[in-house]
Amino acid sequence: MGSFSSVSAAARRLEGKVALITGGASGIGESTARIFSKHGAKVVIADIQDALSHSICKELNPQSSSFVHCDFGTKHAARVMIPARKGSIITTASTSSIIGGGATHGYTSSKHGVVGLMRNTAVELGQFGIRVNCVSPYAIATPLLKDFLKQLDTNKISNVFSSLKGEVLKPEDVAEAALYLGSDESKYVSGHNLVIDGGFTILNTGFCLFPQS
Ligand SMILES: NC(=O)c1ccc[n+]([C@@H]2O[C@H](COP(=O)([O-])OP(=O)(O)OC[C@H]3O[C@@H](n4cnc5c(N)ncnc54)[C@H](O)[C@@H]3O)[C@@H](O)[C@H]2O)c1
Repeated sequence: MGSFSSVSAAARRLEGKVALITGGASGIGESTARIFSKHGAKVVIADIQDALSHSICKELNPQSSSFVHCDFGTKHAARVMIPARKGSIITTASTSSIIGGGATHGYTSSKHGVVGLMRNTAVELGQFGIRVNCVSPYAIATPLLKDFLKQLDTNKISNVFSSLKGEVLKPEDVAEAALYLGSDESKYVSGHNLVIDGGFTILNTGFCLFPQS
């Protein structure tokens, strides 16, 4: 159940902040919602899975979590942040934003595009004190990846193809990176693509998990 009280008031890194987490009902977004709530943020889960989102909100601090059904992006967040002259937008890209051959053409193209959008909006919104960054994880055994790689053991992928032997990438690891980017500890970090891959991309240049036809 709710983990809000497990972090002391002094240690809460997002006290007084509001976090709108798109895709917050599952996988990386769900972990981020849980960690942000634990650190004192008011969390709004924005997702298209209504029932799941409501059940997660019930588990989080009920006074400071809510759900809104939506399918949208960066420009809406910016509209709210510009009048406040502050904010942090964190977009989830992927290691496919910096390498080829790790996914389909469509996925790889869109993730490269996400980083381009992040860089452009970081420049555009910096004048309003708004920071924009990406997190770019490698493979994590979430519902999305399990659906994508039905034939492979997703739990083993991040271990086998990482330089950090014995470590398996989890949604919580990405959520911790988002916690840093969402907190004032990263107040001078903007326009950055934070790759979370255990050294995969430097180890596997030229590696091709999905040969294209
Ligand atoms: N799992 C991985 O291996 C991996 C690796 C790199 C990057 N990513 C990226 O991480 C992000 C989250 O993926 P995940 O693995 O946590 O997936 P997931 O399927 O566990 O969660 C995705 C969530 O997004 C919601 N969603 C989907 N379309 C939406 C829309 N249009 N509007 C609002 N919500 C929507 C879904 O309902 C779901 O709750 C994705 O952008 C994915 O590309 C995942």
